Parts: sequence; C-alpha cells; structure tokens
Amino acid sequence: MRIRHYRQSLLVQAPAKLNLFLEVLGKRADGFHELVTLMMSVRLYDTLQFHDDPSGRIALRCRGADVSSVGFVPTGEDNLVMRAARLLREHTGVQRGAAIDLWKRIPSAAGLGGGSSDAAATLAALNRIWELHLPLGELSTLAARLGSDVPFFLGRSTSAICRGRGESIEPVEIPVGLWFVIVRPPSGLSTADVFAHLHSSSGIDSRSQTETDVETLVRHLQCGRRGRAAASLHNSLQVPAERLSGDVVRLRTEFDRQPVCGHLMSGSGSAYFGLCAGRREARRVAARIRAARIGRVFAASSGA
Ligand code: C5P
Repeated sequence: MRIRHYRQSLLVQAPAKLNLFLEVLGKRADGFHELVTLMMSVRLYDTLQFHDDPSGRIALRCRGADVSSVGFVPTGEDNLVMRAARLLREHTGVQRGAAIDLWKRIPSAAGLGGGSSDAAATLAALNRIWELHLPLGELSTLAARLGSDVPFFLGRSTSAICRGRGESIEPVEIPVGLWFVIVRPPSGLSTADVFAHLHSSSGIDSRSQTETDVETLVRHLQCGRRGRAAASLHNSLQVPAERLSGDVVRLRTEFDRQPVCGHLMSGSGSAYFGLCAGRREARRVAARIRAARIGRVFAASSGA
C-alpha cells in the first residue's frame, strides 16, 4: 500500500492481490481450511482518505461501481473498514474518531482482496493519525481477526507465500512489473460458499508436494521464466467455483483463446486473470476481452 499526507489527511492507495497458486491441505477444527498460497499485489487500487475526528465519531463514505449495485459492498458497520477502525479503538482504548472516504475500484466478491486491503489500509492509517505507534506484529494480529487475507496487505512485501488459513506470511522476492489482464464477470462469488463446495469436487493435497510445487513456481518467477511459471499456476478452488458459476467457466474458455502465457482464477473467484508477456500484450488482450463483453477488464502490473 502507498500512504501519503494530503493537507490535513492521510491518503492511502490499497492494492488488489492475485493468487498465483492456492492449494487446500485440509479442513481444520475451527472450520477454516489450511492452505498454501502465493499472493502478489497488483497495481489496481482502492483509494482511502482519513481525517482525524477528535469528537470520537467514526464515519465512512463509500463510492464506486460496486457500491451503487445493491448488496455488493456493505457501506455500514459491516464494512471491513468500519470493523478495522472499531477493532483498533477497542484494542487500544483510544477515544478519537475518523472521517473516512473510500473510493472503490477493486471489484468485490472477486477473490481480489479489495475489502481485506481496505481493512489493512485502515489499520495502518489510523495507527498513524491516532498516534498509536503499534508495531507491525501487533497490527498483524488484529488484521488476522478481521480476515485471513488482511495480514498480507499490511506487510511490505509485494509477494508472499501465505500459510495457515492465509494469515501466516513468508515474504518472497519476485521482481515487480509482471503484467496481468484481470476480468471480473457479472456475478461474484462468496468465499464461504466456494470453500463449502470444495469437498465434493476436488481432492486435498499433501503438504510436501504442495511446498515443492509453490517453490518451483516462485523460482520460475524469480528467474523471469514466464512460460514455465504459467505452467505451474494452480488454484484448487477453481473446480468448486466453476461448479457454482458459469461465468468462471466462460472466462476460462475465453482466456484459452487469448495469447497469454497462462491463466487462472484468483482466490475464491469470481475474478480471473491472464499472465501476459508484457505491458503491450496485456493492453492488447484487455482490449480483445473488453470487446467480448464478459465482464469488467483491467490491465495491471504487479507491485505495491
Ligand atoms: O477469513 P475470511 O473472512 O476471508 O473467510 C471467509 C470465509 O471463507 C470463512 O468464514 C470460511 O468459511 C472460508 N475460509 C476457509 N478457509 C480459509 C479462509 C476462508 O474455509 N483459509
């Protein structure tokens, strides 16, 4: 994320993420699934602006494409931004409030981590404007209570292998500037639904094989071997997501026809991405998919 001062406020650019690898290892006693995933932030951003409010009131204004369409982005107390602000206040006992503006650009219910990134941005920004000075480790513990993906966005690394339910982060060095075409089809998917449909449709893999597979992918990406990396893209949530959503099947079929190195669904979907040879190729593929009118299309590179 990028944070800067703007007049009396803090402005934060909160990036989306893609999962280039996701394997589910099993279901845990707490109901979550144990997984190994490679997360990478991409330069597709929500923007948040934070003003301190000494009166103690916390207010959120939300704008953007998904906000106006009923039911996509909760704008009240359920929004992860509000929950992050309240959790931080509860944890520290601070009495201050904030006026928060959120411009949503990252599609929701898409597996792109938009809500999680907004929550991480809120923790980081309010930690500064409320002068709390909480260290990253403490913020990460709070982040994990808000959602499995939130700690990844708090970290400084643009790529990480995430384990546990996704909250345990191992940063990896992968050069930024990989180009992707990302498409959010008309329908979204609920993360809980996709995980719930996992057992009936796909197997659960062994840890040692999974570790080998994700490390192989990381090595290819580190060495710039895009073609070989593309062959190692993997998401075990794609099978259940395709059962739940014809849109995901349509996107896979469309990407099969495009000149991309490889393609995959991100996270629990429904967004889908293609890994491209470079910026020019990404722009070209994005234009072709836009013409097919099967969703909202973005060309974005990896980076914070
Ligand atoms: O942590 P998060 O709020 O993103 O999780 C949403 C839902 O997705 C959980 O309630 C759970 O049903 C499912 N989930 C899971 N295993 C994970 C992450 C999420 O089963 N590792």
